[in-house]
Amino acid sequence: MQDSSKESDMVTIGVVTVSDRASRGEYEDRGGPAIVAYLSDVLLTDWRPDTRIVSDDQPLIESVLRELADSGCPLIVTTGGTGPAVRDVTPEATEAVCERMMPGFGELMRKVSLEKVPTAILSRQTAGILGQSLIVNLPGQPKAIAECLDAVFPAVPWCIELIGGPVLETRPERLEAFRPRKK
Ligand code: MTE
Repeated sequence: MQDSSKESDMVTIGVVTVSDRASRGEYEDRGGPAIVAYLSDVLLTDWRPDTRIVSDDQPLIESVLRELADSGCPLIVTTGGTGPAVRDVTPEATEAVCERMMPGFGELMRKVSLEKVPTAILSRQTAGILGQSLIVNLPGQPKAIAECLDAVFPAVPWCIELIGGPVLETRPERLEAFRPRKK
């Protein structure tokens, strides 16, 4: 018999690929699977992804972010649509839905990314809080995913606890979550 209490303890993490071409099926989504692989590698806590692929359409991105937050995802990670092109609107959609912005995430991700590629300066990636959800933008390049998450993820579990979310445990040998004190 299925243990429903265990099921309700399961943390759902939103994984949103923002790409016109991936949403039309013209190219394979590699960003979403890279986020899922990263989180599977790092997280000890039982979790499951709620994955979405949407076009670079601001109202659509906003509605998916709201839906994932309403459904109780403590963390929502997006990939793509952070650059300077006209269709790149993921940061705008993130700002539009969030009650508070967390600019340190974008600052740190750009800093570490600039050590890898000079074009990291072109990403307007940001993060913010919507209810009890932390939303983090990542660039569309699959290799950017681990580069950016390795930098910010140590602070993610504490941020989620501070906004009233669940405790996310990480595999210490892979990534140590930093908690300045016990809550
Ligand atoms: N950050 C990392 N870590 N690695 C990358 O390859 N690519 C950059 C930048 N940030 C990149 C990166 C490039 S080329 C662009 S245009 C911007 O992210 C925006 O990408 P996006 O529009 O796919 O989100």
